[in-house]
Amino acid sequence: MGRMDNKTVLVTGGGKGIGRAASQRMAQEGAHIIVTDFDDAGGQETVNLITSDGGSARFLHHNVTEEAEWESVMADILANEGQLDVLLNNAGIIIMHRLEDFPLEDFRRQNAVNIEGVFLGMKHGVRAMKKAGKGSIINMSSVAGRSGSPSGVGYCATKGAVRLMTKAAAKEMLAMGTEIRVNSVHPALIDTSMAQDIRDQIGDGSRSMDKAFIRTQGRLGQADEIANGILFLASDESSFANGSELVLDNTQTA
Ligand SMILES: NC(=O)c1ccc[n+]([C@@H]2O[C@H](COP(=O)([O-])OP(=O)(O)OC[C@H]3O[C@@H](n4cnc5c(N)ncnc54)[C@H](O)[C@@H]3O)[C@@H](O)[C@H]2O)c1
Repeated sequence: MGRMDNKTVLVTGGGKGIGRAASQRMAQEGAHIIVTDFDDAGGQETVNLITSDGGSARFLHHNVTEEAEWESVMADILANEGQLDVLLNNAGIIIMHRLEDFPLEDFRRQNAVNIEGVFLGMKHGVRAMKKAGKGSIINMSSVAGRSGSPSGVGYCATKGAVRLMTKAAAKEMLAMGTEIRVNSVHPALIDTSMAQDIRDQIGDGSRSMDKAFIRTQGRLGQADEIANGILFLASDESSFANGSELVLDNTQTA
C-alpha cells in the first residue's frame, strides 16, 4: 500500500477495460485519479468504483483527438490539483480490414485516436509536468507495435508509431534535463471489450481468433495483469525505466 501516495494521475479512456483496471489499481496504492473518457457513463462508473472502495478520483469528459479538450483538461487539473505526476495515454480503438479493402477514412480515424491522441497527450502532459520537472508518461502500445498481424496494417501502424514516439520523447526529455520519463506498454490479447470488437470485425462467432492467440500466448490476459505493470511504470520504483517497452504477452513476441 502507498506506492502512489501524493500522486495525481490522468488516465485517458478510463471508462472500461485496461484504463479502468489501471485507475483502480493506482487508486488502491494512494493515487488521486482523474479519469477521462468520451464515454461519460463509463468514466463516471470507474470513479464510483474507486470512491466506493475508499479511493480518490474524479471524472472529466475528454475526447483525446481534440487539442482544445487536452488544453481544458490540463488547465482544470492544474487549477484544482495543482500538479500532474502521471499520464496514462490509454484511450485507443481497433479497426481491422484486409489491406486491399482498407478505407482510407478508417485508417485516418484510427490514426487520429491512437497516434494523434498519444501525441497530444505527451505534448500537453509535458507542458503540465514541466514546472515540477519530473513525472511519468505511459503510452499504451501493444504486441502489434512489435510485430505484424493479418488485417492489422492500420492498427499495427498506430501501435508501432506509439512505440517510437515514446522513445523519441523519452530521449528529448532527458536531453532537456528533465526527470520526465516516457515508457510504453505492450500487451498481447487481453480480455476486454476490445477483444470482442476484434471478434465482431472478423466475424468470429466460433472464436477461432481466441484459439489462435491461445496457441501463442497460453491464454487471454486479464486487465488487472496489465494494470500491475502500469502501476510499476507510474510509481517511483521504475525510476531508471525510460524510453523502455514493458512487454506483457506471456511469450507471444518472445
Ligand atoms: N485489449 C487488448 O487486447 C489490448 C492489447 C494491447 C493493447 N491494447 C491497448 O490498450 C488500450 C486500452 O484497451 P482496452 O482493451 O481497455 O479497450 P476498451 O475498448 O475496453 O476501452 C477503451 C476505452 O477508450 C475510450 N476511448 C476510445 N476512443 C476515445 C477517444 N477518442 N477519446 C477518449 N476516450 C476514448 C473508450 O470509450 C473506452 O472506455 C488501447 O490503447 C488498446 O489499443 C489493448
